[in-house]
Amino acid sequence: MSETENLYETNRLLAEYLLFHFGKQEELLPWAFGPTTALNFPTRTASHFSEGKVTRSLDLGCSVGGSSFVLNQSSEEVIGIDFSQNFIDAANDLNQGKVINYEVLEEAGQMKSLETSVTEKGTGNLSFEQGDAMNLRPDIGQFDRVHAANLLCRLPNPNLLLERLPELIKPNGELLLATPCTWLEEFTKKEYFPESTTLEWLKQSLSNDFELIKQTDEPFLIREHARKYQWTVSMLTLWRRKA
Ligand SMILES: C[S@@+](CC[C@H](N)C(=O)[O-])C[C@H]1O[C@@H](n2cnc3c(N)ncnc32)[C@H](O)[C@@H]1O
Repeated sequence: MSETENLYETNRLLAEYLLFHFGKQEELLPWAFGPTTALNFPTRTASHFSEGKVTRSLDLGCSVGGSSFVLNQSSEEVIGIDFSQNFIDAANDLNQGKVINYEVLEEAGQMKSLETSVTEKGTGNLSFEQGDAMNLRPDIGQFDRVHAANLLCRLPNPNLLLERLPELIKPNGELLLATPCTWLEEFTKKEYFPESTTLEWLKQSLSNDFELIKQTDEPFLIREHARKYQWTVSMLTLWRRKA
């Protein structure tokens, strides 16, 4: 396993993502002057799909499941998939109603204990599984909604996912891609970086099979320690599969 795959298996990243997805505002951002519009990112991205109930939804690179639980409020079935077994174990625990205790870094070696659980799980049949978004199992079927937030620029070859998307999404189904466009050789082979802008690359890759129906920007906030955050703006695009 490479260094970057290991990163998402660490307890430090698990704690950062539990706080990012499920933390209360006073735990994540106890500063009144902080960028509060960057809170609740997993809920905001999953809320961009067209209104109404659907049959099947897929959350790729779901991490600890924040967006999957939101998708499960308007879908009969939701599958959340992540490459990290550690993240999937936590998502499964939360889905089973368990309380997770975890520790976040305050400063130096000082840690703060937090706990989280999910009370609003939605009404669908939600499951989580470990898997690779570049090589999904062949029998996974088709979906009405596919959500992939902040995943593309973490994949060694994102084209492998883009090429699979047309068969993964039902005619008139929707695809939501959010990406901070943080292309790094630690994660993605340089030969697979977009040659132009990320948006142009997506249009070129997807427009045969999908129509772009929305484009917007969504900020998000990841807490590293009590006084240090990553504030980033993700470019969100919503696509409809051509009939
Ligand atoms: C930047 S995080 C984004 C997580 C979540 N979607 C969010 O918006 O907070 C990237 C996620 O993609 C996962 N990931 C990385 N490579 C993957 C792959 N090949 N297949 C599925 N998930 C992957 C990581 O484990 C991590 O949970």
